[in-house]
Amino acid sequence: MVTTKTYDTNRREGCQLTTTPVLIDTDPGIDDALAMLLALSSPEVSVEAITTVAGNVTVELGTANVFRILDVVRPARPPRVARGAAAPLERPLVTAAHVHGQDGLGNLDRLQEPDGRPRYPDPAVKVEMLDGPDLILDTAERYPGELVVVALGPLTNLALALKRGAARLRLARRIVVMGGAVSVPGNVTPAAEFNFYVDPEAAAAVFNAGLPIELIPLDVTRQVLLTRAALAEAVGRAPGRRARFVEDFSRFGFDFADSHGEGGIALHDPLAVAAAVDPGLVQLEPFHVDVECAGTHTRGMTVADRRDIAPDRKKAPNCRAALRVDVERSLRLFLERVCRTSA
Ligand code: RIB
Ligand code: CA
Repeated sequence: MVTTKTYDTNRREGCQLTTTPVLIDTDPGIDDALAMLLALSSPEVSVEAITTVAGNVTVELGTANVFRILDVVRPARPPRVARGAAAPLERPLVTAAHVHGQDGLGNLDRLQEPDGRPRYPDPAVKVEMLDGPDLILDTAERYPGELVVVALGPLTNLALALKRGAARLRLARRIVVMGGAVSVPGNVTPAAEFNFYVDPEAAAAVFNAGLPIELIPLDVTRQVLLTRAALAEAVGRAPGRRARFVEDFSRFGFDFADSHGEGGIALHDPLAVAAAVDPGLVQLEPFHVDVECAGTHTRGMTVADRRDIAPDRKKAPNCRAALRVDVERSLRLFLERVCRTSA
């Protein structure tokens, strides 16, 4: 059942901003779900809104998954949720069910209790009247100069928000983007990372709009690996419904990693949230970045100008990208919080 609700403006009136307001744009996705859990249990931030975008799975499945996660976490102040783009700007959607399961959360929908009831029944989907791009613009206006947008999927919603109201989008203080591969190979093709591959036109538009972008690419996210043992230890410290939920949806991700000889689940999206919470976890460097849209073999490639030449001989930087990360501190922050109840 899908219901829509208007926003309760009383929630903001009179409130003193003691935490950083955050909007998460996401295509959940196993690592997106881990990222949402991290954000929802980090007292430094307040998740004010979540917008969904087609990517790992369809936007319908991704939107239902957001409500599955919220049903388990039950935050004291539930964020506003809006459904975003169902397809990239110009191309057919490419999904990643082989990585995340048919439902996007490790096929949770197939798990049953001993009596045969579904362990995770379909959630009630209560989206805003606004669509994803409009909720991004509305939230940037509600928190001018404060909002941190954390983009965890293809950048289609951000590109549409840009088209509808660039000046409003520029009210965001930071736009932390998980995506791209600056000095390492891609993960979908030799050249491209998934989020930029799915919608290269959207990524190119976002990087050429003068936005305060902090890029968290595969260069650093691939280094932050969650192992079964580390998760089991975190779950053991905080047993309960939330811990079982994490184990249930991440199992598929560990099986995928094992079948590909990887040491664990790469915490792509959780690292973007961690960097939003604690910018000191990564070292950002200014670069000019373009995203390839015309290449046959290089669609979605991150073209970062890393030439060691005089600044006046190349385009001015349009983002800051993380090429170094404190792996140990990032993992510790994640593991301390991923199973913790909301702050
Ligand atoms: O390449 C990794 C990114 O693509 C992550 O955001 C993952 O969830 C997928 O969206
Ligand atoms: Ca994602």
